[in-house]
Amino acid sequence: MKEKGKTENCIKDEREEYVPVDDKVKDFWSRIDKSVVIQECDDTSESPVCRVCECKYNRLEEARFWSRILQEHALFIKLGLPADQKEFREEAESFIELFKELRKRLDKAKELKGDLLEDLIKAVKAIIDFKARLLRQIIQCRKAPGSNFPLLLDHIRREAERFLGLLLKPEPEDALSLLLQQEAFWLRIMKEHIELVIHLLDPSERELIEQAEEFRKTFSRLLETARDLESMDDTKPKNFNTVIRFTEDVVRHTMELRDFKAAAYELAVMCKILGIISTPLLLDHIRREADKFLDELEVMLPEVIRCQSKCKKAKDE
Ligand SMILES: [Fe+2]
Ligand SMILES: [Fe+2]
Repeated sequence: MKEKGKTENCIKDEREEYVPVDDKVKDFWSRIDKSVVIQECDDTSESPVCRVCECKYNRLEEARFWSRILQEHALFIKLGLPADQKEFREEAESFIELFKELRKRLDKAKELKGDLLEDLIKAVKAIIDFKARLLRQIIQCRKAPGSNFPLLLDHIRREAERFLGLLLKPEPEDALSLLLQQEAFWLRIMKEHIELVIHLLDPSERELIEQAEEFRKTFSRLLETARDLESMDDTKPKNFNTVIRFTEDVVRHTMELRDFKAAAYELAVMCKILGIISTPLLLDHIRREADKFLDELEVMLPEVIRCQSKCKKAKDE
């Protein structure tokens, strides 16, 4: 599962060893099966971390992941701004530098607390405000959008809001509810990635657009189902096996989408794709977000399966 911290070289290596999605899905589930049996896991780098059906995010791991994401958001904004919006471009540049510095501190840190935590919270709040201000200007037709779609700005604003929420409130939550929350959050993000990619591809890229359209339909359906299941979970059922079956589908489709993004990134790096994607890094960025989603599922699923079987036993007795 460990995609975190992978360099571009690692991505290159993966390109040479293509593994079909079916095999990857099998691998994923065999790791889940093992993890269900092995209750204790010494890997302290995973996030969330679960104990007795309650899971909470590992703030340091989350901070390392999201601070790179936020630095890249600032770059994407800057590249999408019209040339005459000098002040916004400078502000975007200052966020790139700010998060670069914070990432250096996070790399050295063993814990996320004190000044580092405070500075990080301040920076995340500031970039949320920046994204919201830009979006407002576009919605009110006060500024030209350049190539920053309003939905892109809202999407990256929500990603930052989620990170801020994890920083401010790292409280343990029931495993099943957290899994459903993650699915509802990330499936919306995945769906929007596809929608944004469709709009960034040149109209002549008919084959890729067609593939992306299929993904869009699939992820719209999955998102709707995740929201329904999350709502049903409000009734606090003792077990909810449908969620596990649904998650199987989510894993399979997210792996396919992840591979689509990775392939699009490779095409962009090799200059074999037409469109208005400002940098191939954008495609790598959305591939990393798909991997983060899969990483979270890989932690949460075994815990949910374990907890469901405990509940079932209790009920059967
Ligand atoms: Fe992002
Ligand atoms: Fe995203």
